[in-house]
Amino acid sequence: MSDGVTPTGALEIASCVMFLVGLKLMGKQATAKLGNVVSAAAMLLAVVVALLATGVDFAVISVTVLIGALIGGFAAVRVKMTAMPELVALFNGSGGLASLAVGLIELLPDREVALTSRITASAAVIIGGIAFSGSIIAFGKLSGKINTKPIVFPFQLTISAISVIAALVIAGFSVASDSAFWLLPVLTVLAIWVGVLSVIRIGGGDMPVVVSLLNSYSGVAAAFAGLALHSPVLIVAGTLVGASGLMLTNAMCKAMNRSISNVLFAGFGSAVDSGTGAQQTGEVKPINPQDTYALLEAARSVIIVPGYGMAVAQAQHAVKELAAHLIENGTNVNFVIHPVAGRMPGHMNVLLAEAGIEYEQLAEPDDVNPTMETIDVALVIGANDVVNPDARDEQSSPLYGMPIIEVDRASTVVVLKRSMSTGFAGVQNSLFFRNNTRMLFGDAQKSIAEVAGEFAAD
Ligand code: TAP
Repeated sequence: MSDGVTPTGALEIASCVMFLVGLKLMGKQATAKLGNVVSAAAMLLAVVVALLATGVDFAVISVTVLIGALIGGFAAVRVKMTAMPELVALFNGSGGLASLAVGLIELLPDREVALTSRITASAAVIIGGIAFSGSIIAFGKLSGKINTKPIVFPFQLTISAISVIAALVIAGFSVASDSAFWLLPVLTVLAIWVGVLSVIRIGGGDMPVVVSLLNSYSGVAAAFAGLALHSPVLIVAGTLVGASGLMLTNAMCKAMNRSISNVLFAGFGSAVDSGTGAQQTGEVKPINPQDTYALLEAARSVIIVPGYGMAVAQAQHAVKELAAHLIENGTNVNFVIHPVAGRMPGHMNVLLAEAGIEYEQLAEPDDVNPTMETIDVALVIGANDVVNPDARDEQSSPLYGMPIIEVDRASTVVVLKRSMSTGFAGVQNSLFFRNNTRMLFGDAQKSIAEVAGEFAAD
């Protein structure tokens, strides 16, 4: 064995560096696409290097990579933007399954593998199995193929805890014994069972958070598989996925003012049902598109707050057109995006980017809240929970403590929605009853198009 770095080792290090550079580039919208390309190239390099190192025929490598690329490319092109969490769940599941398979192979009785590798391989089997089955359940819930309500039964957490302990004990035996082949299917079934048990008790609405957590699990499983195989690139890539998935989960929980344990063990559906919130009093004041136009035409500063309803109405292009009219009219326009607006991380950013809205026009709640009094009109387009003042003021609200965009402090608020029905959290919004709020009822795309039409006709 040579003392220097082998060509394969050098390529693996190059791939690791490319992953890091790609991730860094993805941190800014302007460089995010390039970051994606660099990371994809890093993955291709890692796969080819890993396969070459095993001595597999080059033709076989090419065909394998091509089949994988075709499946991934086809899925990515076909998927609707709103179904992205489902696709991510399926991809997570595949990652978990791959780590499970690698771990099992390393634990096979006839393999002469070091004890440390057997230990990390058994961790890959357990975590990979949980990531696999949990992701499949998450996919089922997100796509409505299985019941989206939390499925809870007596002693569920106790059964989960016993199953985890049993899996750890069996893993211990599998590591220690190199002849008990029958332990491996038992370990696999237990890991899959724990994944199912953990995710069925979580409501469909929380699935984006769960998918992010499972993403982290699949990364950790891959890192353990990498340790078992002594593959630096798998360790680095797995660790990056594990850490970033955990950071995203944490950011989403913070933005909803919930702990990870509340998401995993409480079942938000039931938590909301038990909340009462404030009794809503006051008069609802509807407004029509013509009067909305008059308000906007006279405004010097406007913020646009998109929410899930903008995605449902697919109103982003109409919104862009309206913003262009406002800017032409000399109005200062900013889009304020709440971290959990919509139903998936970055949901609003993606829609606004799709409509060609400049990144510089986007603002975060913390940038705008301190100067909200200077805003003439806050246009709330299909957002509800993320602008509910009860989250700030009303301790009995299930949303209490969740950071919001404080549009109620703007001079005038115009809320676009179809009815008085509630948002995701299932609670009424006192914003709709405030003196400075006007309700523009109807489909957001139609309403915005009508307001923009007034500007065009001017
Ligand atoms: P929501 O509170 O869910 O409210 C969306 C509103 O859009 C509804 O009140 C609905 O009212 C309106 N709407 C629906 N279709 C519409 C249409 N065609 N035209 C106009 N309005 C329409 O949305 P939000 O403020 O974006 O808050 C997101 C919620 O989802 C938060 O509670 C958050 O915690 C939760 N959540 C987010 C995520 C991520 S990662 N983003 C993940 C899980 C959960 P009408 O029916 O009256 O029209």
